[in-house]
Amino acid sequence: MTKDKLIYEGKAKKMWSVKEDDDLLIAEFKDSLTAFNGVKKAEESGKGALNNKISTEIFKLLEKHGIKTDLVKKIDDTNQVVKKCKIIPLEVVVRNIATGSLTKRLGIKDGTILPFTLVEFCYKNDELNDPILNDDHCLLLDAVKTKDELEVLKAEAKKINKILKDFFDKKDLKLVDFKVEFGKTKDGEIILADEISPDSCRFWDKNTNEKLDKDRFRQDLGNVKVAYEEVLRRILG
Ligand code: TMP
Ligand code: ASP
Repeated sequence: MTKDKLIYEGKAKKMWSVKEDDDLLIAEFKDSLTAFNGVKKAEESGKGALNNKISTEIFKLLEKHGIKTDLVKKIDDTNQVVKKCKIIPLEVVVRNIATGSLTKRLGIKDGTILPFTLVEFCYKNDELNDPILNDDHCLLLDAVKTKDELEVLKAEAKKINKILKDFFDKKDLKLVDFKVEFGKTKDGEIILADEISPDSCRFWDKNTNEKLDKDRFRQDLGNVKVAYEEVLRRILG
């Protein structure tokens, strides 16, 4: 599989067209770490390779449980082949424990176990700082075509949460919250896309509550790569 043209560069990935197949793309995972909508930036050598590996393992696990994803295969340390799809411009955030922007927005105490799985939508728009949306906003912005599509996103996000929460619990990690993105294939099927990694999830050690995710970078806690390596070690263990 050969990279052809760079068609998109985001904060954490480059997307390339593929010479041999117009229905595929290559996702290249970068070493850059960003937070607060790109205001805070750093390079962490090896982070791209770790996220490529972690996300591939998680997507394979989800596929095994019946979740449709864009993953075709990981081809080397930092690259994976994915099915081409049109990204739905929503960040679908799932929360089990209150922290981060939820505690800031609603004043809920950090660490509170939520009485039910909370699903939120944010508009994928850097200029607007990814604002939180309600269902009507999602329709107003044409992010999805119908209420049914929103219900599909919510249901898929909750299914993914159940699978991953159970999986990580066995690895002594609490899945605190995470963000996923979905895309539409040319046949109109909604599939999981982008990545699931310590960049896009919060993991707390089950016994110590140590943070093993990008909050180590956001909050200057140090040992960012060590934490990502620990998540990979537990996934494979
Ligand atoms: P938040 O508490 O900052 O809203 O984040 C909720 C979850 O979403 C957390 O696991 C981190 C993830 N996330 C992203 O993947 N990308 C983003 O741009 C933001 C703001 C959060
Ligand atoms: N993903 C956003 C950024 O890269 C925000 C974050 O994850 O904190 O800036």
